Amino acid sequence: MRRAFFAFLAAAVLLPASFAAAQSAPHIEKTDGVARLIVEDRPFLSIAGESSNSASGSLAYMESIWPALRQIHLNTLLVPLCWDMVEPREGEFDFTVVDGIISQARREGVKLSFLWFGSWKNMVSSYAPSWVKLNPRRFPLLQDKNGGQIQMLSVFSDNNVKADAGAFAALMRHIRSVDAAEQTVIMMQVENEVGYTGGERDWSDAARKAWRSAVPKELTDYLRTHRESLIPEFRAHWERFGARTSGSWAELFGDTPEGNEIFMSYHYAKYIGAVVAAGKREYAIPMFANAAIGRQDRKIASYPCGGPLPFVMDVWQCAAPQLDAISPDIYYGDFEGHCRAYTQNGNPLIIPETRGDDVGLGKALLAYAEHGALCFSPFGIEGYAGRSIGSFYADLQQLAPMILSRIPGKTMRAVMVGSDTPVQTLEIGKYHVLCEYGHRGNQPAGETVGYALILQDEDDSFYVYGRNISLQFSLVDRGRNKLVTGILDCEEGFIENGVWKPFRRINGDQIMNDYSFAAAYLDGRSGNGLRFGQAGVQYVRLYQY
Ligand code: DGJ
Repeated sequence: MRRAFFAFLAAAVLLPASFAAAQSAPHIEKTDGVARLIVEDRPFLSIAGESSNSASGSLAYMESIWPALRQIHLNTLLVPLCWDMVEPREGEFDFTVVDGIISQARREGVKLSFLWFGSWKNMVSSYAPSWVKLNPRRFPLLQDKNGGQIQMLSVFSDNNVKADAGAFAALMRHIRSVDAAEQTVIMMQVENEVGYTGGERDWSDAARKAWRSAVPKELTDYLRTHRESLIPEFRAHWERFGARTSGSWAELFGDTPEGNEIFMSYHYAKYIGAVVAAGKREYAIPMFANAAIGRQDRKIASYPCGGPLPFVMDVWQCAAPQLDAISPDIYYGDFEGHCRAYTQNGNPLIIPETRGDDVGLGKALLAYAEHGALCFSPFGIEGYAGRSIGSFYADLQQLAPMILSRIPGKTMRAVMVGSDTPVQTLEIGKYHVLCEYGHRGNQPAGETVGYALILQDEDDSFYVYGRNISLQFSLVDRGRNKLVTGILDCEEGFIENGVWKPFRRINGDQIMNDYSFAAAYLDGRSGNGLRFGQAGVQYVRLYQY
């Protein structure tokens, strides 16, 4: 019954766009706390990769990376668009590269998320056009404490924000005109990893004036009305300075590295919010800002301050409500910790940059199935051609309709195991699942991880996608009769257009996980379970005796 329901849902998910009456622009929808990216009026799981920075430096070069991209089987490419190429002379726009990339992507059947390298890329303003770079009097730079000019456009300049917003608006107007019907472009990242060196602030005259001014009312009102739900670390910092709702930045947050970070964050967010607003007035598709997160979690010296970090998430949400999400570039630290931090305050999880090695693939499953990620995207994706991400992404594309019709962390779970953590457990529905790296204590040679994605079908049946992992199910509550869970039957197969296609039944050696029956009995396990070496999908029905 439920299988039929999912088949129907999958079919709905795959209906051609031409069936839609008036198609809405790509957007993010939230239902019962679960955020979904909607493209061509259907939920869309962005199985993505970000190109290296200069891939779009010419159409010819861009063309040269498609053979590599084809091997990755991604459905979304994140690719930069640079202000200096889009507006080489003030007010004169050149969309040759934009149009070319869109037509290449359409030919390849891939969606695009453009990265607007406008005022800043990794803190600096290297992609600003020459007419901006050559006129620092009109387009002022950030000044350090000693009056040194840093190659970063100052956020405290109306000229800067107007110029960037004007170019971005023209770009979005153009994208709308060429793409609103087709929806090849599904999201925009606005700027890239903004901020200034850890714990410092801009010391230009305009910045000093802003620092001495009262904290704007929109932020003090926000602090007052959101006090209970503020990010705990941010709230604690504000309360340490007396939880004031009026006064200067130094009075509210201290003349401290954190105070500087909050001050710079507000002004970066205002600036980027204005750029986003200008773009959305032309074409409102999902837009996000990404953050460099430090090598050490929350060590202020280790990341550019002012960017959309969890500590200042409230500041960003207050000052730039036009943004659909703030997003982590996750190269370091506790991956799931970052996912949790970036799903606070209802923030949809989009991971524009991360790693795509074998460990990264397990993390992709965790991101989608545990944390409801809308997009997972390793950086420098063309460099991964020939690696396991290719077949992994092909599998994920098959699984996408099933992922999209389940609730992350509830009716869908993921787990990663490896030599450091060979045993993990999780719960799904009424079941407890023992997950082991490899098979019966034999860890795979030369492999670094195992992973599984568990998708609930009925109460007692599951689709499981796994690699280098074995799983045994038992009841969370065995009841008075000490019920044991066995495998009723198990099939190996694949998913086509969201529908399960069994290939063979595997009820023999392939489900023998543990011959220590007496010990297994004590845990409510039968000794039967699922085993995965090479990646694959199995459908299992469980029963009790
Ligand atoms: C993070 C930046 O956002 C990217 O543009 C790129 O520079 C990578 N770092 C390189 O690792």
